Amino acid sequence: MKILNNKKFNLTENLVTSEKYYLNRRSFLFGMIGSLALPIDNLSYSNDDVVKKYNITKKPITKYNTLTRYNNFFEFGTTKEIWKAAQKLDLNDWKVKIKGGKLDEKFIDFETLNKKFDIEERIYKFRCVEAWSMVVPWNGFELSKLISFLEPDADFKYVAFKSFFDPNTAKNQKQSWYPWPYTEIITMEEAKNELAFIATGVYGKSLPKQNGAPLRLVLPWKYGFKSIKSIVEIEFLKESKKSFWNTIAPKEYGFWANVNPKVPHKRWSQEFERDIESNKKFPTQIFNGYERWVSYLYKDINVDKLYF
Ligand code: MTE
Repeated sequence: MKILNNKKFNLTENLVTSEKYYLNRRSFLFGMIGSLALPIDNLSYSNDDVVKKYNITKKPITKYNTLTRYNNFFEFGTTKEIWKAAQKLDLNDWKVKIKGGKLDEKFIDFETLNKKFDIEERIYKFRCVEAWSMVVPWNGFELSKLISFLEPDADFKYVAFKSFFDPNTAKNQKQSWYPWPYTEIITMEEAKNELAFIATGVYGKSLPKQNGAPLRLVLPWKYGFKSIKSIVEIEFLKESKKSFWNTIAPKEYGFWANVNPKVPHKRWSQEFERDIESNKKFPTQIFNGYERWVSYLYKDINVDKLYF
């Protein structure tokens, strides 16, 4: 797999200057074998020195083994240890239904989609609304490329995403008080932002099932619940509609869900976050540190409303 490296967005790519880590990383990404290659579970990037120069949060890139063993995937259970249960997910013949645009009511199979666009690496910070965070080297393509390919009419203002519904595979979907399937919705402008990403892999490997295989959304400036996993449907809409968390608790899970340390969750502060790799606390940044790329989207919105 050829992976383009678009350094522009990799706030934490600046951490990767240690030659040792760099070699380990390349040997893994580009398939060189031998003593340079580390077992994937040990794969990690870090270097403290350069952090100060760029004045970014001093966080290590999360190890493969950490980010694949600590997950939120409520279809499979409400604990962080759902990775084993998620292995039941059947990825064969995975298709994504399109509603609206050139391919209205058609299905695209995942393999076709994955070959359509050049695969990039994006090292993004990821902040969960539960106040934990990680740094993930994703692989995938810009959502904007997919949107252009789907050619939605100009009067569509929103893009909605739906995850699978299969209670025999995902046992928590038998709990009927949840509004399954998991859904999310963003504005068309947000979907076209250059940071909005469809991840199909992590650390140069296919996306693990527990992380949302075969394809998921990644919106690094928003709380993690917006980054819907295991997508089966993409729908263009003229009007907004409610999403999974917004239906369950609208006062706790706002539509915008932009990372905002000034707006506490109803039950906890959002000023700090716990990095799951180091277990250290870090101050949370507005838009999770991605302000320069996304603030134009919200110029008319009062800072207190950015989350709701
Ligand atoms: N997508 C689906 N389909 N189901 C989920 O439960 N959880 C969300 C998001 N996407 C979720 C989902 C939440 S709350 C978070 S924080 C992230 O996935 C977690 O992603 P990770 O497990 O890869 O860290």
